[in-house]
Amino acid sequence: MAFATRHFVRAASSAAATAAAKKLIVKHVTVIGGGLMGAGIAQVAAASGHTVVLVDQSEEILKKSTKGIEESLKRVTKKKFADKPEAGAEFIEKTLKNLTTSTDAVAVVHSTDLVIEAIVENQEIKNELFKQLDKFAPEHTIFASNTSSLQITQLANSTTRQDRFGGLHFFNPVPMMKLVEVIKTPMTSQKTFESLVDFSKAVGKSPVSCKDTPGFIVNRLLVPYMMEAVRLFERGDASKEDIDVAMKLGAGYPMGPFELLDYVGLDTSKYIIDGWHSLEPNNPLFAPSPLLNKLVQEKKLGKKTGEGFYKYK
Ligand code: NAI
Repeated sequence: MAFATRHFVRAASSAAATAAAKKLIVKHVTVIGGGLMGAGIAQVAAASGHTVVLVDQSEEILKKSTKGIEESLKRVTKKKFADKPEAGAEFIEKTLKNLTTSTDAVAVVHSTDLVIEAIVENQEIKNELFKQLDKFAPEHTIFASNTSSLQITQLANSTTRQDRFGGLHFFNPVPMMKLVEVIKTPMTSQKTFESLVDFSKAVGKSPVSCKDTPGFIVNRLLVPYMMEAVRLFERGDASKEDIDVAMKLGAGYPMGPFELLDYVGLDTSKYIIDGWHSLEPNNPLFAPSPLLNKLVQEKKLGKKTGEGFYKYK
């Protein structure tokens, strides 16, 4: 009996060891897109000891991304190393040493373990990028998209590595927000999924997992909530100011739905709801809003244009 137990334990631990050995430990990351999200992802990956190449379309954009990362690192360091400025300076230096930039994605993916795509939210452009990178990235390389609203399965289908493809959905601003949604399509292998979960933890985030469904977890709950607020206002049931106050003081939310819509961008919110509406036209939660459409048409897109539901000038 003792022998059988020992034998079983040994067999089980060697099976676990084999599985662990097979799991890819991500060391080298390529982030495509140096905008709001890509720069943040590159920053947290480099700060946690990964070798990172950040790719965008021009040197000018990359210069701006790097400057943004340097400023963000200074802010993080001020908090994290408040009493130890020397350790803070060393942290910034080490992080920046881990980070390089390039305008040629094809030329840099040959030695990468993980490609994280954070380019413009457009299915065709993303598909084209993945299709091309698939030809040049090594066999073992995992591809991940940071898309908020597109189907990961559709993106994976533009490659031949559907089993090594998943979603890694970070939140804005990346250095501050602790959550990552790890998305597993029916084709994503368990090994790939586990590698993505491990990577999310390695960059200091708390991963949650979700199937490849519209909005995953956070946006699937948040976007219909914001749209319900717009509908409440459209019907004249309450003012937008009162709805915002109500959700802050009554539900404890840090921002009201209209403040949040203006922060996210009304064009982005419209894009998401229109996409879901075309997928599920009979779902009342995904119905378009005439008021939101009108504001977007008038280029009142929220904070970024100086006016949305509120004025910011
Ligand atoms: P952004 O517009 O700030 O940045 C996109 C960057 O991609 C730009 O710098 C652009 O030059 C670059 N780019 C476009 N096409 C490229 C290509 N073919 N090769 C290399 N670079 C290219 O956009 P943002 O906000 O960073 O969004 C990126 C992705 O992250 C989108 O898929 C979006 O849905 C998703 N996302 C956005 C969030 C947000 O709050 N903004 C939150 C979570 C996900």
